Amino acid sequence: MMRVDIATLFPEMCQRVLDESILGRAAKRGHIETHCHQIRDYTLNRQKQVDDYPYGGGCGMVMNAQPIYDCCMDIIRQNEEQGRPRPHILFMTAAGQPFSEEKAKELAQYDNLLLVCGHYEGMDERVIEELADEEISIGDYVLTGGELAALVVADSVLRLQPGVLSQPEGYQDESHWNGLLEYPQYTRPEEWNGRKVPPVLLSGHHGKIEEWRRQQSLERTQKRRPDLYQKYKKEP
Ligand code: ADE
Repeated sequence: MMRVDIATLFPEMCQRVLDESILGRAAKRGHIETHCHQIRDYTLNRQKQVDDYPYGGGCGMVMNAQPIYDCCMDIIRQNEEQGRPRPHILFMTAAGQPFSEEKAKELAQYDNLLLVCGHYEGMDERVIEELADEEISIGDYVLTGGELAALVVADSVLRLQPGVLSQPEGYQDESHWNGLLEYPQYTRPEEWNGRKVPPVLLSGHHGKIEEWRRQQSLERTQKRRPDLYQKYKKEP
């Protein structure tokens, strides 16, 4: 059973997201485990300050290495006490390797993940060098902190764990699973606002439905994401 830990300055926010909806239900049922930890609890100064001015000057603040390191070491120890191996450690940064469904599938193989979130202008590079197995970016844009990125990674990895989705085949048809975008979906009523459901879906002919969906998938990918389409044609 997978355990995910998040080290952050906003543990309540992160835990609330993970305790909702599908992941919350999966955790209650014992299929996954999530724990969010306050980095500030590991400061050694009276003011509980977690950041400082950058050496060399420049704007903004940089998170100190020490509280991040001590927080992570405590999390590693807690995992050990549970009889678990040392977690695979990911630092969330805009300068990391790009995240993808392929990366999510790869990370889903670990028993424990530790996601570390920076805030302010960044983290002291030395704690990343000391602890990070990987640095991950969720896209080419800048967030105010790593929390939303960590939640994106946690969500996409945890939903692949056994027992989380009610229908385990659920994710096999989805966009990006096989390198293509998903076909369009419809539910009742048969006509809404003058728009009819494509008749083939009402035909009950499974072979034809599958063929239509496959065709839609290919057309959509070609039109909306020519980059993915080219890649798929080379290595389907
Ligand atoms: N922190 C700030 N921006 C980020 C991004 N795009 N991905 C991951 N972590 C981040």
